[in-house]
Amino acid sequence: MSAAHDEFQLYDLRVEVVANRGRMLCRESVGDYFEVRSGTITMRHRSRGSGCARSGTPRNRGNRCPGARDAHHRERAMTARTVLAPGYDIPPVIIGAWQHSEGHSAAPVDRAALFALWDAMADRGCDTLDCADIYTGVEALIGAYRRARAGRRVQVHTKFVPDRDALAQVDRAYVTRIIDRSLARLGGDALDLVQFHWWRYEVPGMIEAARHLDDLRRAGKIRHLALTNTNTARTAALLDAGIPLVSTQVQYSVLDRRPAAQLAPLARARGLHLLCYGSVAGGFLDASWIGAAAPAGALENRSLVKYRLIIDDAGGWDAFQRLLRVLRDVGARHGVGVANVAQRWTLDQPAVGAVIVGLRSMASATRTLATLDLALDAADRAAIGEALAAMPGPAGDVYDAERDPASPHAGIIRYNLNDAAVR
Ligand SMILES: NC(=O)c1ccc[n+]([C@@H]2O[C@H](COP(=O)([O-])OP(=O)(O)OC[C@H]3O[C@@H](n4cnc5c(N)ncnc54)[C@H](OP(=O)(O)O)[C@@H]3O)[C@@H](O)[C@H]2O)c1
Repeated sequence: MSAAHDEFQLYDLRVEVVANRGRMLCRESVGDYFEVRSGTITMRHRSRGSGCARSGTPRNRGNRCPGARDAHHRERAMTARTVLAPGYDIPPVIIGAWQHSEGHSAAPVDRAALFALWDAMADRGCDTLDCADIYTGVEALIGAYRRARAGRRVQVHTKFVPDRDALAQVDRAYVTRIIDRSLARLGGDALDLVQFHWWRYEVPGMIEAARHLDDLRRAGKIRHLALTNTNTARTAALLDAGIPLVSTQVQYSVLDRRPAAQLAPLARARGLHLLCYGSVAGGFLDASWIGAAAPAGALENRSLVKYRLIIDDAGGWDAFQRLLRVLRDVGARHGVGVANVAQRWTLDQPAVGAVIVGLRSMASATRTLATLDLALDAADRAAIGEALAAMPGPAGDVYDAERDPASPHAGIIRYNLNDAAVR
């Protein structure tokens, strides 16, 4: 162990059961132990031979308790937090705040009701919010919440998304200006997590921009660095360049399983977690859509516009209806809804650290909390797997389709919101 100030960094640790006395909360036996050695955590059941063993770096060992077969362990594992980096952990459900940005929908933001919703989520441990420098008005909104709740832990993940048309001009001064602006809006002495996006791989400068961010991390303005909407090759290139990424934010759901093929294996191997949006497809993954005709006119908000296209990629409206019914039936066995099953499915995928869920109503927040206590069993997974086998989902690696100017996905993206948001 090394100690710096009041924080400890753990290098090697072994925790062994030496006696079983009184009321035991787990079924480990004397001699069982877990250990962290040179960045790898391993669980050994000495008394049961093979037992279960899991490994990963301390950063990526995440929220899966090694003894998850046990009911007590399972409960703890589902509500436990994922460690993204030493001293920094997150809940399974992160609250997304794009929904409150100018332009996401015409619905006005009721600050008092929203702050009460965020309080209610934080009371159940969901104390982390996701936003972006380009979600107009949202960093300032969260800053106001933090000031109103001084003393309460409110972790905030923001993004650094330089304007698409300004990528060639992104230098140290540009990066510093945007980060300083996020700091001023959000308050506090440092940004908890900054998720970096680069719109066009063909424009040079992505790694240099990440290095400027890393310099700001070293200077204490940023605690942790991450990516969003970045494919596997570019993620690997940034890691190889020494950028200390702890997570990457991507779309990952029963409808969009692009991260599974390449990015998730890289994430597992390199110790980062996937933070996943779209797990309820903007609200499409809800029983209220069962039996409904495919929406024809304008949709109420930009999430629905985005995920309507994903439904088409995933086999179309009829295939989506069949999946909804399967998710409803699985949920009925557990007394939960379609959205809970969909969120838990995403949470159960390898390398996933959290789902990021947009919540505008207390009803959605309350329903989503049921996901914390939901465990899918083998029969559930088989039923969902069978339905998904008939649904292709969007092709290619993470965010490839969105980067293709000819695709309908690219056609609905709003670019160059960053400098507009400065004014
Ligand atoms: N990096 C990126 O490019 C990117 C892209 C999209 C999103 N995000 C992040 O992810 C967050 C989530 O956004 P999203 O677009 O993916 O939306 P989403 O989370 O898939 O869907 C949000 C909608 O689903 C409804 N909902 C939530 N929980 C529900 C439940 N348990 N049952 C029924 N309905 C439920 C909510 O309804 P109510 O409105 O009634 O509460 C809300 O309108 C964003 O706020 C943002 O932080 C990032």
